[in-house]
Amino acid sequence: MMARMADLPAPTRRTFLGAGLVGGVATLTGCTGEDSPPPGAAESASPSSPSAGSSEPPPPRYDDWAWVREQVPLDAALAQFAAFVLSPHTRPLEEAIAAFRDELAVDTEAALLKEVEREDAVRAGAADFAGGAPGQYALTDSTTMGLGLMYGGLRLTPDDEILTTTHDFYSTEESLRLLARRTGARVRRISLYDDPATATTEQIVERIMAGITSRTRVVALTWVHSSTGVRLPLREITEAMRRLSRVARDQYLVCVDGVHGFAAVDTDLPDLGVDFLAAGTHKWLFGPRGTGVLWGRDWEPLTQVIPTFSGPGGGAARLTPGGYHSFEHRWALADAFTFMGGVGRARAVERTVEQATRLKEGLADVDGITVVTPTAPEVSAGIVCLDVRGMPPANAVATLRTQGIVASATPYRVSYLRLGPSIATTPEQVDTAVAAITRLV
Ligand SMILES: Cc1ncc(COP(=O)(O)O)c(C=O)c1O
Repeated sequence: MMARMADLPAPTRRTFLGAGLVGGVATLTGCTGEDSPPPGAAESASPSSPSAGSSEPPPPRYDDWAWVREQVPLDAALAQFAAFVLSPHTRPLEEAIAAFRDELAVDTEAALLKEVEREDAVRAGAADFAGGAPGQYALTDSTTMGLGLMYGGLRLTPDDEILTTTHDFYSTEESLRLLARRTGARVRRISLYDDPATATTEQIVERIMAGITSRTRVVALTWVHSSTGVRLPLREITEAMRRLSRVARDQYLVCVDGVHGFAAVDTDLPDLGVDFLAAGTHKWLFGPRGTGVLWGRDWEPLTQVIPTFSGPGGGAARLTPGGYHSFEHRWALADAFTFMGGVGRARAVERTVEQATRLKEGLADVDGITVVTPTAPEVSAGIVCLDVRGMPPANAVATLRTQGIVASATPYRVSYLRLGPSIATTPEQVDTAVAAITRLV
């Protein structure tokens, strides 16, 4: 009979991937695992660690914003307000990736023997950076993969209702459509605000509370709407949910697409009061492209939908999809947490919000420009959406590029011009952007 992975002794878990999948499966089926190297063999067989052999690099100067910006290799001749869309990789991150890539190239087997401990290091880095315990972080390739694991793993019946909103990204909408098709559960969509610019905590909380019924089993939300830049006050929402006497809080799960809040809002994830949160780490964290996390308060409600290669280790391992990955990116995620942790989560967020506010205030009274995103920091984060009278967003993006400003257009039915100030931009570049946007009308 196949042994359960949770029952396997630690050395077997450690060698699951490194011994090759066939060796790993042999141990799972109860063979003695004679092909597995003895504990400690990985260390002696492995090539040098990322820093070995190289001369000592100069110490990081996290306190110096100019130095931090220099670590982002984007074209410095342009003001990069779309850097958050897909991580450009910092220089230290590129070095870490290159070192892991070299290890994999020189002796793949030896590098793979370290997979479990490196995955553990990524989980520890995530918990250090975003709060909670390492065992609350499953590793994914993207927000979309995390959403798929989350909504794909829920057990619902045709009597159940999923409460969601009209403001979510395609990946949530599609995951919920598939969840409803699989289980027969009904999806109910509500709008949380009529005009994003004037959205308030009170209004958002009220509408969600009114939407919860005795049939609600899932509340599916997005932390920061990439369609409008509105940030949901998740903590206030979940506090109101706890106070709601009409429907018990433990009757439903709160599931969140957290990608534009992760590393863009200075909050520990457990403090949000939600149950599951999926986030790509290749946006505001400036982590490796093709990486993400799924945070879970308690993994029990989720059935596993993709076989794991991560061995035993609780729900975080169970929910981490298996298959061989682009491991140089996955392992280097620990270095991205180290970098942004060095900058300081609070400092990076403050820098982002300060610039976003400057941008919104600079454009507030410009005739022909409508700032779609609220000015209040409690209901906004780093994304700033704008409507330019008489100009399609794609045209605005193209015109701004000719003036050295990189922006993007939101990929929604109602599309806006979108800028995302970050650690890669400066307040002076914000002023240049304000002037250039003013000239669009
Ligand atoms: C709200 C939101 N969720 C998810 C995604 C997709 O993220 P990922 O590429 O990490 O799946 C995007 C855009 O890229 C987004 O705006």
